[in-house]
Amino acid sequence: MPPTTLLRRTTLAFPRTSTLSTQTRTISAYGYTQSKALTFRDYGDPASVLSLHKHSISPPHGSALTLRFLASPINPADINQIQGVYPSKPTFTTSLGTAHPLAVGGNEGVAEVIALGDAAKQSGFAKGDWVFMRAPGFGTWRTHAAAEAGQLVKLREEAREGISAVQAGTVSVNPCTAYQMLRGFGNLKEGQWFMQNGANSGVGRAAIQLAKVWGYKSINVIRSRTGEDAAQKEEELKEELKAIGADVVITDAELQAREMRDRIKEITNGGRERIGLALNCVSGKPAIAMAKLVGAGADFVTYGAMSKQPLTIPASLLIFKDIRFHGFWVSRWSEQNPEDKVKMVEHVLELTRKGEFRDSPMDEIRWEWETTGEELVEKVAQTLEGYRSGKGVFVFGDSTK
Ligand SMILES: NC(=O)c1ccc[n+]([C@@H]2O[C@H](COP(=O)([O-])OP(=O)(O)OC[C@H]3O[C@@H](n4cnc5c(N)ncnc54)[C@H](OP(=O)(O)O)[C@@H]3O)[C@@H](O)[C@H]2O)c1
Repeated sequence: MPPTTLLRRTTLAFPRTSTLSTQTRTISAYGYTQSKALTFRDYGDPASVLSLHKHSISPPHGSALTLRFLASPINPADINQIQGVYPSKPTFTTSLGTAHPLAVGGNEGVAEVIALGDAAKQSGFAKGDWVFMRAPGFGTWRTHAAAEAGQLVKLREEAREGISAVQAGTVSVNPCTAYQMLRGFGNLKEGQWFMQNGANSGVGRAAIQLAKVWGYKSINVIRSRTGEDAAQKEEELKEELKAIGADVVITDAELQAREMRDRIKEITNGGRERIGLALNCVSGKPAIAMAKLVGAGADFVTYGAMSKQPLTIPASLLIFKDIRFHGFWVSRWSEQNPEDKVKMVEHVLELTRKGEFRDSPMDEIRWEWETTGEELVEKVAQTLEGYRSGKGVFVFGDSTK
């Protein structure tokens, strides 16, 4: 992480009247904060329904806080939510000063507390704290927000040490999903194997690295590349994943080839080392090809359907191989296990600090006060494209100065 992306850990000073910096422009002499948010009024294609909306936030009282966002990623689920096809719905509200209710895009991110009421102080918050949203649906693609103390989880000072805003802003969803799937299913012990597809996704890369920490071995499936230099691109991606700890990396074409059964046997010491867990990001045919290669009684956990294809399970996998098919949704798990979630976040940040957990490749999108809605919406729309070299993450204002 370049030093420019490490944020100052002290609260920024906000002179009451100045036009010199991005930050000073956002707070008026009467304590009103100017905010810009990527909002939508109706569900639909992000490129058509998203627009940049400017509004004022009044000074906070009681349990209210004013937040300045630092970093917010663009996750596939955020796109599905805007399309209206995601089970967790955003909050549509007129509180941003419009006659029609608007929702703010984005579910993950980290923000800094810049002002707060007395009751919020009494519940443990202070200016300069870094906070996460307790639940999805808050809307994190915005420069500033008004929040209630009950909506936020504070990142402890100790956990924040040496952590960049991008690292903090992207820890809650993907690393936690990988963490909980690896720990919660398969009952893996050190030296045992798991298999996954979508291995170069944020979740997949997190799973590779966490597995390394816990001593699990991984067989990783990536999507075959296309074009003249496909073989070279595949090789580069394989090497990239091996560099963060992947033991074996294959393409989905290799996975579905006849000889794969023998190769897996070879890899797993003549089949004596059982593959006890499979993590499915992609669904469709490659997922079933993976299910056919895991050991009898293995746990097969589906957490994504990036191929947009259904998971059609042959009965034999259930009857004769007794593969245990599960689904995992980190939002539900986090709601049911809020304290464990905080511990998990802190553990991943500790591993990050120790250099045992590296960031996934990111496409940092600078969001300055002057950045136009068109530029931001274009970046969101690009998330729908495959074969990307990094996940889009909004990095706000002068937070990296
Ligand atoms: N259930 C949960 O709790 C949970 C939590 C986090 C994420 N997820 C889900 O996990 C998936 C990955 O999320 P992420 O944030 O880790 O993703 P990401 O970093 O944005 O990466 C996207 C991944 O999807 C692959 N992909 C894209 N289009 C594809 C297609 N048409 N067919 C097959 N693979 C395709 C990409 O491979 P290429 O490089 O080959 O394009 C890449 O591996 C998403 O479906 C997301 O919603 C679920």
